[in-house]
Amino acid sequence: MSQKEIPSKPWGGRFSEATDAFVERFTASISFDQRMYRQDITGSIAHATMLADVGVLNAKERDSIIDGLQSIQRDIESGNFNWSVTLEDVHMNIEAKLTERIGITGKKLHTGRSRNDQVATDIRLYLRDEIDLISAELKRLQEGLLTLAETNADTIMPGFTHLQTAQPITFGHHLLAWFEMLNRDYGRLQDCRKRLNLCPLGAAALAGTTYPINREQTAELLGFDAPTQNSLDSVSDRDFAIEFSAFASLLMTHLSRASEELVLWTSAQFNFVQLPDRFCTGSSIMPQKKNPDVPELVRGKTGRVNGHLISLLTLMKSQPLAYNKDNQEDKEPLFDSIDTVKDCLRAFADMVPAIKANKEQMYEAAKRGFSTATDLADYLVRKGIPFRDSHEIVGLSVAYGIDNNKDLSEMSLDELKQFSDSIEQDVFDVLTLEGSVSARNHLGGTAPVQVKAAVARAREALEA
Ligand code: ARG
Repeated sequence: MSQKEIPSKPWGGRFSEATDAFVERFTASISFDQRMYRQDITGSIAHATMLADVGVLNAKERDSIIDGLQSIQRDIESGNFNWSVTLEDVHMNIEAKLTERIGITGKKLHTGRSRNDQVATDIRLYLRDEIDLISAELKRLQEGLLTLAETNADTIMPGFTHLQTAQPITFGHHLLAWFEMLNRDYGRLQDCRKRLNLCPLGAAALAGTTYPINREQTAELLGFDAPTQNSLDSVSDRDFAIEFSAFASLLMTHLSRASEELVLWTSAQFNFVQLPDRFCTGSSIMPQKKNPDVPELVRGKTGRVNGHLISLLTLMKSQPLAYNKDNQEDKEPLFDSIDTVKDCLRAFADMVPAIKANKEQMYEAAKRGFSTATDLADYLVRKGIPFRDSHEIVGLSVAYGIDNNKDLSEMSLDELKQFSDSIEQDVFDVLTLEGSVSARNHLGGTAPVQVKAAVARAREALEA
């Protein structure tokens, strides 16, 4: 073989000049795909094990490859591994190191495999691990919400529509609404995991391989439910990354809604809740300030996660089969969404149990906006007055309350009777905030007994 100087690359054989230094950096993914080193090594060990079982490698070669890969993993984890841009990506860095370490046998690892099925396998394994971590963190947040909802099952606050006081609700009930949003997110994440959990290894570059590989075996060794069904699709499919990003966007949307409410509620104008000091920061100029930075940042980070979803959808749009280098661009948006979602969930899961309700302020606020007006209307209907008429009567009572600065529950029976003779002493059972929330006593309603029952059901489902 003629001596060429150029091919320092594993694929350098057919090249007659070295890669341009800028192009080398431009095409490399090592700066961001090195985080998949563990999955890359696990995938290679499964591949080598299978190759030995079907007779492509002998047992000695297999063991030498596996030992070499394990020692590389130890070196990476103790910080003794130099990643090289010249070697482009995590796959070639590890393979080159293996050959350097165990000699010619290292070069046999890539038999019957391509970086195309290798990277597709690595991302699925990586995302699967992260999904399991995110699921646990999401559950921790849900548990925190249930505890806080339980303690506040009878804490009364105003419920809003149009951000105007509508009807009294319990704080526990409001928190359970957050819980439901997150419960759907949890389900979506598990759905994504299910479809993700198929093994593309064996698709090789795009068409499969001529070696007698056992795809069921590698799938099983790597904890996948089964191998994927089509080699072209296997190397080019990134649906799982998009599905995860869609999950992430909806989760962030929900966290941003909760964040927005916390930001409002911690303001002096609302003063409904307190966040612990350790989740807030001050101002360098205004000494009185305690800013709700954590919810603000979570709200703000929703933007980048939504952006990554659009990036990935656009990345895949119109791509011809099978693998294209475009696909290398899947990693940064996916990884950033993973990191962002994990951090935001951690912040929320740590913060939620420490939220303190200012019960008196909430109660006073619920009294201020005539929040039991609907209850009075319903009361009059029960006394035989048609709803439209009772609506009118209550409207007049509210106008009187505005002029005299009195909530409906603060008026005397005589004051109320000016508007309808049908109003009697028992009206106060429904006009009080307690009466109002307790009356909404059905599945999904705000009555304290219903909130407690909902917490119990949710807890049971979460533990199942
Ligand atoms: N670094 C590449 C990626 O992330 C690995 C696959 C490269 N395959 C290839 N045919 N160039 O997509």
